[in-house]
This record gives sequence, structure tokens and C-alpha cells, in this order.
Amino acid sequence: MDSKDNSGGAFLADIREIRRRARQHIEGGAVTNGYKADRATVLRVLNEALATELVCVLRYKRHHYTARGIHSQAVADEFLEHAAEEQGHADRLAERIVQLDGKPNFNPDGLLTRSHWEYVEGENLVDMIREDLVAERIAIESYSEIIRYLGDNDPTSRRLMEDILANEEEHADDMSTLLERVSEDAQRLRKSGREARGGR
Ligand SMILES: [Fe+2]
Ligand SMILES: [Fe+2]
Repeated sequence: MDSKDNSGGAFLADIREIRRRARQHIEGGAVTNGYKADRATVLRVLNEALATELVCVLRYKRHHYTARGIHSQAVADEFLEHAAEEQGHADRLAERIVQLDGKPNFNPDGLLTRSHWEYVEGENLVDMIREDLVAERIAIESYSEIIRYLGDNDPTSRRLMEDILANEEEHADDMSTLLERVSEDAQRLRKSGREARGGR
């Protein structure tokens, strides 16, 4: 190395130091000394989001298989699509937890306690859609909070949560459109039933 080139020398020394630290902490995987977040808290928060997603998968699956009524086929298809997307969110969260040298928690024991939302089955199509909409709205709120917490300290986890959040917003929108359509038709059916009985 040219000793007269001080700036380059300092730069190379920095690179060497970064490489040395990377080798020294190789067991840390993707977590380097530059990682600024509180890893234990991030792992706990990501595991809670994982639990939330797993509960969402179960709820959408239950709704998919039990949807009955005039719109049941279209709504059941939508439930199945959402179940698959929630599963995708769970997979990405588990992957990130492992990258951060943590353990993704798939233990069914305590799943509901770790989740941000409870598991509600719903009796009819309107109830089911309403439960799903509420669950999506809770996910949107809690994920927004997680994104604010992560800030610039863990940009990769933040970006992951932002992607998932955008998808939950689409889910909430889908559910609110469905809810409107299905409740309007249910009302119309009740009204025409009353008219038919009154006409007799
Ligand atoms: Fe999700
Ligand atoms: Fe969702």
C-alpha cells in the first residue's frame, strides 16, 4: 500500500477492520456490529407478528371451508386467497427471524396469546367477513406501530413489515367491499321475502 495515500489507507484499514469483525462474528449470520436495533425486542415483535399471521391463516381456512349462502363460492375463494397470502407473510417473518439468529416460534401452545388478534369463527357469511375485517384492521394498526418502532435501526425488517402492511391494507379493502355487497344482498332478500309473504 502507498503510505503517501492517507485517505485510501484509512479506507482500506476500515475495510480490513469490517472484514475482521465479520469473520470474528461469523456465527452471528446476517447480524453484524452495525446492527443498531435491540435484537431481543425485534425478535419478540417479529415472533408476535408471526403468531398473528398463523392465527389469520387458521381463521381464513375455517371461513373458506364453512362459507355458505348465495355468495359463498366467490367469498370462499377470496378467503382461500387470503389464507395463502397470510401463510406467505408467516414464511417471510420466519425467514427474517432466522436471519437475525433467532428462533421462529411455531409452538401451538400460547399461539393465541402471542397473536395480536383472537380467533373468532363467525356464524354466517356476514359475521365471518366482519371478523376478518376487524382482524385486518388490528393487524394494520399493530404493524404500523412495529414499523415506527423499527425506524432506521433495522431497515430490512422495517421493509418486510411495510410490504406485509400494504398487503393487509388490500385485505381490509377486499373485506369491506365484500361486506357491503353481501349485507346489501342479505337485506334485499329479507325485503323481498317480506313482500312475498305480505302479497299472499
Ligand atoms: Fe398477513
Ligand atoms: Fe391480511
